[in-house]
Amino acid sequence: MEIQIIEIPKIKNSKGNIGVIENDVVPFDIKRVYYLYDVPSSAKRGGHAHKALQQLLVPLSGSFDVVLKDGTEEVTVTLNKPDKGLLINSNIWRELENFSSGAVCMVIASDVYSEDDYIRDYNDFLEYVKANK
Ligand code: TYD
Repeated sequence: MEIQIIEIPKIKNSKGNIGVIENDVVPFDIKRVYYLYDVPSSAKRGGHAHKALQQLLVPLSGSFDVVLKDGTEEVTVTLNKPDKGLLINSNIWRELENFSSGAVCMVIASDVYSEDDYIRDYNDFLEYVKANK
């Protein structure tokens, strides 16, 4: 499985950094931004795939692990640098875990929220991937 890490452009000087995400940083039109915070270290988030939604996950603060499954392979990516985001394509199962204290995960998404776009059952996901190969 190809892991797509996106380097987020920054403006850097002695006063610190500004990370800037404009539309050309991601391969989709940005329609929504949301963020996970105050996540207990024992929590497992995600546990679903999206039929069409594409997302860029950015660890604004702290760290967490993202487990990605494409129906064949499984890869775990640790996100802990605010200038490196993980691009997740559609049809990829994801689980987010091991959140550090104070971790903030910003999600830049290609569409507004739609429950119809979610696949929340892993067996349904495997069938969906097979059918859409
Ligand atoms: P979900 O995407 O399952 O959370 P995570 O993947 O972070 O574990 O969303 C959790 C709940 O919040 C679910 O009931 C849907 C709702 N939700 C919205 O209403 N709008 C949103 O933009 C998001 C991301 C979730």
